[in-house]
Amino acid sequence: MCYSIPGKIFKIEDNIVTVDYFGQKRKARNDFYSELAIGDYVYAQGGFVVQRIPHDEAISILDTWRELFVKLEEIDLKLARPPKNLNKYLETSSEKELYQLANSVRSKHLGNSCCIHGIIEFSNYCRCNCLYCGIRNGNDRIERYRMDVEEIINASLYAIKVQNFKALVLQSGEDLYYNEERLVAIISNVMKENPIFLIMSIGERDFNLYKRLYDVGARGVLLRFETSNPSLYERYKEGRKLRDRLNLIKELHKLGYVIFTGFLAGLKDQTEEDIRRDIEVTASLNPEMFSFGPFIPLDDNESKPPIELILSTIAKTRIAYPDSRILVTTAVETLYGEDGLISGLASGGNSLMINVTPEKYRNLYKIYPGRRGIGAERAIKLLHSIGRAPTDLGIK
Ligand code: 5AD
Repeated sequence: MCYSIPGKIFKIEDNIVTVDYFGQKRKARNDFYSELAIGDYVYAQGGFVVQRIPHDEAISILDTWRELFVKLEEIDLKLARPPKNLNKYLETSSEKELYQLANSVRSKHLGNSCCIHGIIEFSNYCRCNCLYCGIRNGNDRIERYRMDVEEIINASLYAIKVQNFKALVLQSGEDLYYNEERLVAIISNVMKENPIFLIMSIGERDFNLYKRLYDVGARGVLLRFETSNPSLYERYKEGRKLRDRLNLIKELHKLGYVIFTGFLAGLKDQTEEDIRRDIEVTASLNPEMFSFGPFIPLDDNESKPPIELILSTIAKTRIAYPDSRILVTTAVETLYGEDGLISGLASGGNSLMINVTPEKYRNLYKIYPGRRGIGAERAIKLLHSIGRAPTDLGIK
């Protein structure tokens, strides 16, 4: 199974390399290899070179891809044609045409690349009490678990070596059990064995802790600000301030981390104007990845946001920020099924996450009810059916 296509180094300028994928060129940062040369074959992920591949091996992998790659490009170009009459779209702005326009913008700016990241949810303990979240501290109706350091390392190496992931998110509640020593041990062991694009999603932890984690090889942070409306924020996130969260995200970006951030769409009392601002605030944080999803009510009796809300949010984001990377989240799949994922990808989305948490813990990470996650094989099939290929999206 393949979540990434090898590329050939075309140009090198300091630590930035340009990688060629069957004619598509993308830039990537080289933080992990000292000797790379033009003509070398590499895997890049999230804009980082994560692996050098021996020539012969790369050529045989590319041989198996060539024909499929051309076919996927053709399918994507056909599906991503702009609406027939743009002027008419601008006047009528029907939802369907909005999605179609966004899809054509995505295809024009980023081709058929779609990144796939694995995610391991290693603990559902959390010190926060966010009212929208099922693993909040105050919820005593869920079973708690923590994976130990070795289990996390092994699960990560399995995802990298056996399942072939080149990018991995390590996520937990805000759980102080994972102190600097434990987190450093996890990251350095994984990176020593097999460099990948490692993204930490561990909540609002100390800046100095994040700095240490960067030093040992973590390069991404997934930290949503959840809502840009300060009063909604304070209502949902007891004792927390929006300003602190935004400042932390900005500081982490300055440090060199690649940022995945965004918000929840469909919170009670959230307005259309709030969501418009949420999109703007996300963009102002210079994220590598927009990560926003529909809010799923914890109580079955509460109404769920309609799919149009998330599709139009994805589409507007794509049109406003054409070269952005936009994740279509597991929450979309949970609420609207695999068709929801396809619709999200066809409305401007170009990234998916696949849950690779060990089976015995997977159902315990109950941030919301009925959580679903597409399996790796189905995800690849689904992407192929809409002409997407797992080439790296590169750095902006
Ligand atoms: N519905 C959808 N997403 C949720 N999250 C937490 N609770 C919910 C919910 N009820 C999201 C938050 C958090 C991410 C890990 O999960 O946005 O950042």
